[in-house]
Amino acid sequence: MTSNKINPQDNKNCVILASGNGSNALNIINHFLTGKKSNGINIVAVVSNVAAAPVIEKVKKTAPFIPVFAIPFNNLSERDVFESELEKIIKNYGVELIILAGFMKVLSKEFVSKFSHKIINIHPSLLPSFKGKDAIKKAYDYGVKYTGVTIHYVTEEVDSGPIILQEVVKIDEGDTIESLEAKIHNIEHEIYPVALELLANKAYKAG
Ligand code: GRF
Repeated sequence: MTSNKINPQDNKNCVILASGNGSNALNIINHFLTGKKSNGINIVAVVSNVAAAPVIEKVKKTAPFIPVFAIPFNNLSERDVFESELEKIIKNYGVELIILAGFMKVLSKEFVSKFSHKIINIHPSLLPSFKGKDAIKKAYDYGVKYTGVTIHYVTEEVDSGPIILQEVVKIDEGDTIESLEAKIHNIEHEIYPVALELLANKAYKAG
């Protein structure tokens, strides 16, 4: 991928939303910090909806200069406040792209349509198969021979937006759910930064 044509000041400002472990968030942060700044992505903030999520401490340790916000959104009644706080962050930090990386809540239709083609998500299956939660387990239990990872735009319908990038993961005879999860996460870490570079380089355009 040729991505060195981007002038650093043209980088896209991005916020990452994460709810838990944060391996994708950390991987993206590290990727765009390690001499690849010209790839067009600046992570300007991280937001978690879970105050005790490990991602919060991990980001603070790895990249203390990136502001991290914990805004409670554990049930539907907290969604409005979460989204209005997030909008303030988007405005204050000039955010152009919202990266969902293990963000386990569904944003409102109003929010999603307001930021159409500006929210992207990673899903651990080959969409449109195995939408929703526990996608890795669903694929494993179903007995498919191939599953994978999808990076897609977020639209009003969950896990249904235009696909930006996909990668296949083969389920081998000896695979356990744990070994499959490990394979999926490895591929996630490979392709999410690539998808972001595609977007930053305007090498991908939806529909
Ligand atoms: C990933 O498998 C991602 O595809 C899914 O949630 C998981 C988050 O993992 N949406 P992590 O928090 O990035 O480690």
